[in-house]
Amino acid sequence: MRKKVTIVGAGNVGATTAHWLAARELADIALVDVIEGVPQGKALDLLEALAVEGSDVRVTGSNDYEITNDSDIVVITAGFPRKPGMSRDDLVRANADIVAAATKEAVERSPRCILIVVTNPLDAMCEVARRVSGFPRQRILGMAGVLDSARFSAFIAMELGVSVENVQTFVLGGHGDQMVPLPRYSTVAGIPIPELLDKTTIDRLVERTAKGGGEIVNLLKSGSAYYAPGRSIADMIDAILKDKHKILPCAAYLTGEYGIKDLFIGVPCRLGSVGLEEIVEIKLSQEESAALRASAEAVAQVLKALP
Ligand code: LAC
Repeated sequence: MRKKVTIVGAGNVGATTAHWLAARELADIALVDVIEGVPQGKALDLLEALAVEGSDVRVTGSNDYEITNDSDIVVITAGFPRKPGMSRDDLVRANADIVAAATKEAVERSPRCILIVVTNPLDAMCEVARRVSGFPRQRILGMAGVLDSARFSAFIAMELGVSVENVQTFVLGGHGDQMVPLPRYSTVAGIPIPELLDKTTIDRLVERTAKGGGEIVNLLKSGSAYYAPGRSIADMIDAILKDKHKILPCAAYLTGEYGIKDLFIGVPCRLGSVGLEEIVEIKLSQEESAALRASAEAVAQVLKALP
């Protein structure tokens, strides 16, 4: 039987995720949203596109969670996006209720699913999903690190004029302005980027990465990024459904790793069919550790605003 992925939220992020996923023929897709007609319309349009693509997965849309029964993975994208000038953290109150309701509905019908949270502020919304679902940490992940690393990779490839396929980057920490891109562990054809770029250039690219989501919000004026977030979610789903044991930066619930406890934050995670197989602990310099701790502190501050 084909695997099944539910996407809650048929806005730009949810619909684009469905698009990237459907083309890979990985799983049947259930698209749920509260707005009448939108999940149905987008699902039907996508299904018709798959007739051209030659993909046989089933795509359904509904306002009712009934269609999500027995999903292997549930992706939560529902919530308000940022407006220009807003930080991701400004969304905490508005989106906590939405994520809590979506989690409750979804896990009732798919008690064994793996949850991938995408709604901002990401790390805090993962905590909302954890509290509501009661799931073990293996089955709750947040998507941010793949996106943030993709942005860092794109900027490095543009700067050096090389194929983005040569670029491998790592961004840790919370999905906020205090995220922690790690130049020492970022490479181009295996060469660490400090060997290829001067410090001023690296600092500029790091800064652009940390503010990468805001750059797009400011350009779009309404709504936030969706192509890169959608593609990043598809990468995590691919690693899980194919049991790839792939290491990707994801938000995970730390229980002492990196000296951080009881908090979701972006760290290298090995993903397989159980969800989170392992948090990989890499050696950080004093400066990198301090940056990660500051990022964790910023996440902890946001958590205080949770109801
Ligand atoms: C971004 C939003 C989705 O980083 O957090 O684009």
